[in-house]
Amino acid sequence: MRFTKKDILDIHSLDPGEISLILDTAMGMKEISRRPVKKVPTLRGKTIVLFFQEPSTRTKLSFEIAAKRLSADSVAIAKAGSSMAKGETLIDTVKNLESMRPDVIVMRHASSGAAYQVARRVDCSVINAGDGIHAHPSQALLDMMSVREKKGRIQGLKLAMIGDIAHSRVARSNIIGFSKMGAQVFVCAPQTMIPSGIEALGCTVSSTVEDCVADADVIMMLRIQKERQSDVLFPTEREYACCFGLNKDRLSLAGKDVTIMHPGPMNRGVEIASDVADGKGSMILDQVTNGVALRMALYYLVAGGSRHADTD
Ligand code: CP
Repeated sequence: MRFTKKDILDIHSLDPGEISLILDTAMGMKEISRRPVKKVPTLRGKTIVLFFQEPSTRTKLSFEIAAKRLSADSVAIAKAGSSMAKGETLIDTVKNLESMRPDVIVMRHASSGAAYQVARRVDCSVINAGDGIHAHPSQALLDMMSVREKKGRIQGLKLAMIGDIAHSRVARSNIIGFSKMGAQVFVCAPQTMIPSGIEALGCTVSSTVEDCVADADVIMMLRIQKERQSDVLFPTEREYACCFGLNKDRLSLAGKDVTIMHPGPMNRGVEIASDVADGKGSMILDQVTNGVALRMALYYLVAGGSRHADTD
């Protein structure tokens, strides 16, 4: 199977075969990061622009490291320090970037849909590294990769997702992705953080955290996204932790070999207790490790152009 998409903008537009191809390619890439010399010539001569207009640690660094491991040249541009700070529009900025002939633009933007606007206007590939509350496809793909690696499958698993569903692009992309790959996805949050109609994406809304985590194979906790909340959506962090946080007691209701995930950054003691985040079953840092391999796979598939990775 060949990957024919120019852009990676969301999970919705990927079919299960394409998702499997991405995950298989990422597993092939993983070994490169274990070598003494963590570099292959696969994308030598390719240019990748990292265009992040929101803060990021994991996504930005892993896209940058992934480019370097494949020998691509990567350059970063942010709003501060660029001419966007002088009022240049997003589209004018990317048309100027395109004139310098990059092969891939990786972009993060506070507005939902920004990556689509850019992808329509440039010939190079665009990878959405997070647009507003809408989509974070590379995060969902690395999460699916991590679960498939740990559990050997996605089909038939119970995934419990708890937290700020309303403001989470990670939640939307993961609900769509995991349900597409055959998992049963259950979500739980305060009423103020559950968008109406979320079930249409492929999940069931649980009325209590206890119901949500009962017999779960995977629990994914989501960050409270204060930067996207214009209203007060819950009384205090202490009450949120008490009613919706993942602690050892709630964890004991889950399946015996339950896997704990969080996309990061974590609010320790709010959505997740430290002893759970750092304890048995947590694969939060494994998610970060897999993020590099997954992003290497995305570059390879959109800019390298072959089904089987030439990773020699
Ligand atoms: N998971 C995630 O997107 O983390 P960053 O915001 O640090 O990139």
